[in-house]
Amino acid sequence: MSNYQIEFRHVQKSYGDNLVLENINCQVKKGEFITMVGTSGCGKSTFLKMLLGTEQHSKGQILLDNQPISAEPCDERGIVFQKYSVFPHLSVRENVAIAKEFESSFIGRLFGKRRQQALDEADKWLDAVGLLNAKHKYPHELSGGMQQRLAIAQALIKHPKVLLLDEPFGALDPGIRKDMHKLVLDLWQKYELTIFMVTHDLEEGFYLGTRLWVFDKTRHDPHAPHRFGSTITFDLPVGKTDQASYQEIEDSLSLHALSA
Ligand SMILES: Nc1ncnc2c1ncn2[C@@H]1O[C@H](COP(=O)(O)OP(=O)(O)OP(=O)(O)O)[C@@H](O)[C@H]1O
Ligand SMILES: [Mg+2]
Repeated sequence: MSNYQIEFRHVQKSYGDNLVLENINCQVKKGEFITMVGTSGCGKSTFLKMLLGTEQHSKGQILLDNQPISAEPCDERGIVFQKYSVFPHLSVRENVAIAKEFESSFIGRLFGKRRQQALDEADKWLDAVGLLNAKHKYPHELSGGMQQRLAIAQALIKHPKVLLLDEPFGALDPGIRKDMHKLVLDLWQKYELTIFMVTHDLEEGFYLGTRLWVFDKTRHDPHAPHRFGSTITFDLPVGKTDQASYQEIEDSLSLHALSA
C-alpha cells in the first residue's frame, strides 16, 4: 500500500495508430495541485479523461487510492471544462441541483423534501463560488466568469476528492481570471481537494500549482508524426517563482509553437 492517492504506472494511450501518450509514470498525493502545460494536441485532455474514467488507457495501470481506476466516471472525480454544459431552460440554482441528482432522477421530477434538499445544497455551493446572488438567473444571462463559477459549483456539489480543470479560465479577461484564481485556491484549501489543471498560460501554471508538469514528445519520427507519444518531460515543484525553470520551459514551449 502506498500513500499516494493517484498513481500512473507505464501508462500508454493510443487512438488507432495515433500514439498519444506513452510512458506516463507519476505519483500524486492527496492535496497536491498539479498544473499541466504542453502544446496543442499533446494529450493533456486525454490524460484528464483517463483520470475521469471517460477514456480507457491502452496499456499500464492507473490507481486511485491503491485500486485500479473504475471504468465508469464517478463522483470521486469532478471535471470542469472551458466550455461547460448546462440546461438553458433551467435556472442557475436548478442547474447546480441537477448536477447532483442527474444520475438518479431529474430535478423537475423531484418533489417535496428531496427537491428542497437538492436546492438548499445547490445554494450552499453557489455561495461557496460567489454566485448566490445570481441563483435565479438563466445561463445565457451570465458573464464568462459567472459561467465558470457555475461549472465549478456543478462539479463540487458531487463532493469530488479530485477536481479536474481543463483550461477553465482560457476565455476570461485577465481581471476576472485573477478573481477565479483566488476562488480556486480558496476552494482547494477549504475542501482539501487534489487538483489537476490544464492551462495554456505558463505563468498561471507556476502561480497556481504546487507542482507543474510539461507534456511533450521526447522522440519524433518526421515521416510518422503519430508514431511516438508525449510523456511528462518536466515535473517541478512550483508555487514560488523559479525564474530559471520558468525560462527553460517557456523556451521549450515556444520552440514547439514555432515548429508546429
Ligand atoms: N476520441 C478521440 N478519438 C481519436 N483521437 C482522439 C480522440 N481524442 C483525442 N484524440 C487525439 O489525441 C491527441 C491528443 O488530444 P488532446 O485533446 O488530449 O490534446 P490536448 O493536449 O488537450 O490539446 P489542446 O491543448 O488543443 O486542448 C490528438 O491527436 C487528438 O486528435
Ligand atoms: Mg485539451
